[in-house]
Amino acid sequence: MLMGMPVVAGDAFPDKPGKKTVERLCGGCHGLNLFANMRKTRQAWHTSVHDMVSRGMNAEDAELEEMIEYLARYLSRLNVNKAQAAELADVLGLTPKEGEAIVAHRTKSGEFQSFEELSKVPGLDAKKLAAQRDRIGFSGQ
Ligand code: HEC
Repeated sequence: MLMGMPVVAGDAFPDKPGKKTVERLCGGCHGLNLFANMRKTRQAWHTSVHDMVSRGMNAEDAELEEMIEYLARYLSRLNVNKAQAAELADVLGLTPKEGEAIVAHRTKSGEFQSFEELSKVPGLDAKKLAAQRDRIGFSGQ
């Protein structure tokens, strides 16, 4: 039987550049747990972070950029019907070749309708993809 992978706090916020800033600034008013399981597009994170500024968050422009970059990369949802190969690889942790395989398939056969369809693309590691399932979208940005 397939079981959902448990999401622990450590997984939600990978130890990558930008994490310290997110912890320091976003933890200022509410816990990071408030959004640890949220998956937003880059555009939506951009809006959200600026919304926090209007709620009183004090941050330099560079810090805002750093946090948006971090959130867009690690707590994001990407539309596989729109994203470029490099972005697919980068955000979903795929190889450049896998990113290109998705775009090639999309160009040839049209938009993906489901996760099952996506995971059948030749050359993709279905297991790796399954681990990112909640970060993959089929419409929107
Ligand atoms: C100055 C205080 C403050 C800081 C700093 C702050 N927030 Fe918030 N945040 C709030 C308030 C107030 C709410 C509304 C809470 C509610 O609705 O219960 C909120 C709600 C949210 C929500 C839920 C609403 C939405 O937009 O989806 C998210 C996500 C969120 N914050 C993310 C962040 C992130 C990411 C950061 C760091 C970039 C951050 N917050 C920093 C005050 C802050």
